[in-house]
Amino acid sequence: MHVGPLEIRRQEGALILTIQREERRNALDLATIQAFGDVFRQHLSAEDRAVVVTGSGTAAFCAGADLKERREMSLDQVRAQLLRYRSDLGWLSTCPVPTVAAINGAALGGGLELALLCDLRVAAAHASFALPETSLGIIPAAGGTQYLPRVVGAAKARELILLGTRIDASEALRIGLVHRVAGTAPAPVAGELLADALRWIEPITRGAPLAQRAALRALRAADRLDLDAGLEFELGCYEACLTSEDRLEALAAFAEKRRPVFNGR
Ligand code: COA
Repeated sequence: MHVGPLEIRRQEGALILTIQREERRNALDLATIQAFGDVFRQHLSAEDRAVVVTGSGTAAFCAGADLKERREMSLDQVRAQLLRYRSDLGWLSTCPVPTVAAINGAALGGGLELALLCDLRVAAAHASFALPETSLGIIPAAGGTQYLPRVVGAAKARELILLGTRIDASEALRIGLVHRVAGTAPAPVAGELLADALRWIEPITRGAPLAQRAALRALRAADRLDLDAGLEFELGCYEACLTSEDRLEALAAFAEKRRPVFNGR
């Protein structure tokens, strides 16, 4: 089904969101940003074990802000759009299940920021990455200046944002901007990336759901808490697993030398 310019479907336990604006290289206009918010508010289900975000075609994952729309906007409309990044895209960084960017081409500006909101990033071998905002007289404001240093470190983030350097997938992998590069061929093959990403996240989509959610809460807390508070928070997250049927099932499966079957309780 479609929610505005987003195609949404479910496959192998994942909710897959595909931006369908290939003619504008999947750039983020108001309708697309709102569609992300609508998916969270109306379509995310307790059954979804992961959310995968990708773009249509092979040229771009997302070319950032829709610059043609932006040109027609008043200052107040631009300000409102920035707030919408927070309200309608921001949930990807706080979603109860892991979020994954399957980066099928160029991830530029707001497109890279969209990927940075996700917990995991898998890139096609031909993908490229940049935050070129300063060359356009602005700065990344969909979280880029905050998330990028947390992912690649302060020094690399300064280089990428101040110089606007564009890097390829192997460099992105080397600096930890992406977790995985799918395929080796420079010529992109449609569908290959998504299949690779879904295979790679099987430990999530077939794992113990309560443990996945608890681990994610604890990991995200590490971004905002000091060590003592974080260790305390971690204990609370463990408690959510301690009383679960899935924990007992894992212990039984270990004793019986079989694979556990988790039910999410
Ligand atoms: N906003 C609106 N339209 C965009 C766009 C954007 N961010 N990026 C690309 N498009 C449009 C182009 O204007 C073009 O439209 P046209 O056919 O009406 O001329 C169409 O998408 C195809 O773009 P093109 O540059 O020909 O595609 P490509 O495959 O050769 O290159 C990109 C793809 C993404 C590398 C390139 O389009 C690009 O660099 N875009 C700008 C990215 C950017 O600076 N984003 C803003 C960051 S703040």
